[in-house]
Amino acid sequence: MCGIIGYTGNDNAKEIIINSLSALEYRGYDSAGMSLFTDNGISTVKTQGRVSELRKKASVHFPENTFCGIGHTRWATHGKPSETNAHPHGTDNVMIVHNGIIENYKELKKEFDDSLFYSDTDTEVIAKILDKEYEETHDPIKSIINTHKRLKGSYALGIIFSDIPGTVFALRKDSPLLIGTGENGMFIASDISAFLKHTNKYIRLEDGDTAMITKDSVRIFDTDGNEKSVKHETAQRNADEIQKGGFSHFMLKEIFEEPDVMKDTFSSITKDFLPDFSETISDDSFFADIGTIHIVACGTALHAGLMGKYFIEKLAKTPVTTETAGEFRYSEPILRANDMAIIISQSGETADSLAALRMLNEKNIRTLSVVNTQGSTIAEESEKVIYTLAGREIAVASTKAFNVQCEVLFILALKIALVKNTLTSDETKNILHSFSTVFSNSIPSILKNTAPFEKAAKILSECNNAFFIGRGYDNYLGQEASLKLKEITYIHSEAYAASELKHGTISLIEDGTPVIAIATDKKFFEKMRSNIEEVKSRGAVIISVCCEDADIIKEISDCVITLPSEPSYCHPFSAATAIQLLAYYTALEMGRDIDKPRNLAKSVTVE
Ligand code: F6R
Repeated sequence: MCGIIGYTGNDNAKEIIINSLSALEYRGYDSAGMSLFTDNGISTVKTQGRVSELRKKASVHFPENTFCGIGHTRWATHGKPSETNAHPHGTDNVMIVHNGIIENYKELKKEFDDSLFYSDTDTEVIAKILDKEYEETHDPIKSIINTHKRLKGSYALGIIFSDIPGTVFALRKDSPLLIGTGENGMFIASDISAFLKHTNKYIRLEDGDTAMITKDSVRIFDTDGNEKSVKHETAQRNADEIQKGGFSHFMLKEIFEEPDVMKDTFSSITKDFLPDFSETISDDSFFADIGTIHIVACGTALHAGLMGKYFIEKLAKTPVTTETAGEFRYSEPILRANDMAIIISQSGETADSLAALRMLNEKNIRTLSVVNTQGSTIAEESEKVIYTLAGREIAVASTKAFNVQCEVLFILALKIALVKNTLTSDETKNILHSFSTVFSNSIPSILKNTAPFEKAAKILSECNNAFFIGRGYDNYLGQEASLKLKEITYIHSEAYAASELKHGTISLIEDGTPVIAIATDKKFFEKMRSNIEEVKSRGAVIISVCCEDADIIKEISDCVITLPSEPSYCHPFSAATAIQLLAYYTALEMGRDIDKPRNLAKSVTVE
């Protein structure tokens, strides 16, 4: 999604802003731009495409002695990706960068002559209104607050006024915005990675607040224009996390980090092989008398939620609904006083997941979030938070975060099972003991031999359509596998419960169509074999992802990815790693832009 950076300070603003835009590239974008104060007023440069192109343009366009400005990476929502639609937008008096969506922009535009607009964006009208307000009030803060009161939607704004050189203003509503406080200057950014190289000290702008920053001061105002006190925070993150560390892609690096991050997460929520969430949930009563659990999330996190449903229902015998946040928030879910909601999010900023959380909070449902990003909005606004310790995920396609989300949900299921007495302590200890081999043995052994993935990737890279089939949790893994493949290879694929294919979709199977059969749950081997026979007899090429002892699956497969022999609760996790590698090597074979696939954004902060 779009990224915002603003800087004012003693250093070279041109270099700082360009480098910060590069650090924001992982979020996904299609154009970029920046405005800087120069001796001749504000000057702007934009480009469609990559930040590297903007860097070239900026190097000739701007002088070296710039000290203040704003920059943006745009992920198109209103108006196609183009140089004209790229941010910053503005007038002779004011330039702005915007993340989010202005829902009433059409209505607001009616106040101005159509010919005054040069772009198709919903952003340009904000600048027009702000300019008008500033002309009337001659007060930047008042004009921003008045503008804010007229806007509907979600937005984070970075603003500069041509007659106030050296000052950057910012406004936030429902879209994240941080202020970085460094020794050599101040920053505004949608994401801490934009300024982490310069400082790990930051202030979180709250909804509705306006900030005014100069090179050595930060002032924050509420919607009535009253100045507020500021709360300084320090990020744990390390700028080195943004390096590929010898891997050809962040995605591969992140898959290889899975054993370590799963081990770290395990240590943070277990003690002596029993679940231990006491650091964030001090009282077991939080888990007592749960009616239904509603899991709400989007994309890959939603698939982790499906795995969570499987674990919780199986181990804790508690009913679970799993729903995509964008539907949940507008549905009329049946919620009872003793229900619990679990919101899963890597970024902690996904707009739909956040809106669903707010809806649940309003209805007084106990909320627990499983979040990877410390201090993110979802984490802050949930009643309780469990952090997944995946570390920074840069590749757009989520991998290690998925594994640790599933791990947390698995251990949470064991916790609820203990509180509900559906498992004894000894049984739980045994389960967790065997589970720990997944990060000490199983996943490391998969990572040692990537040859089977490369072989399967050759088959997949030559197709236009592929199907994933599985039963039980393997069906949920198939959905994640299909999403991963689509995201980074652009091959069309669909995932089905293996029993379901013959109810219509089997008509699409023809000679050479790859069907990837995920078969890691022993109880389904025979059923899966029959389903595989059904598609094989219609010409499908079978790639199976299965356990060592799944001979009846292997013998009818054209290509086999074998998971190590391991205790049963390990299979979903090692299979998750396997399907990620399958997508990765297929995209590699096809020469795709693996870390930054087309049209996608890392953090989806608009609905
Ligand atoms: C897919 C992917 C997305 C995210 C989804 C939710 O690889 O990364 O489907 O899982 O946008 O994002 P978070 O987890 O940040 O809420």
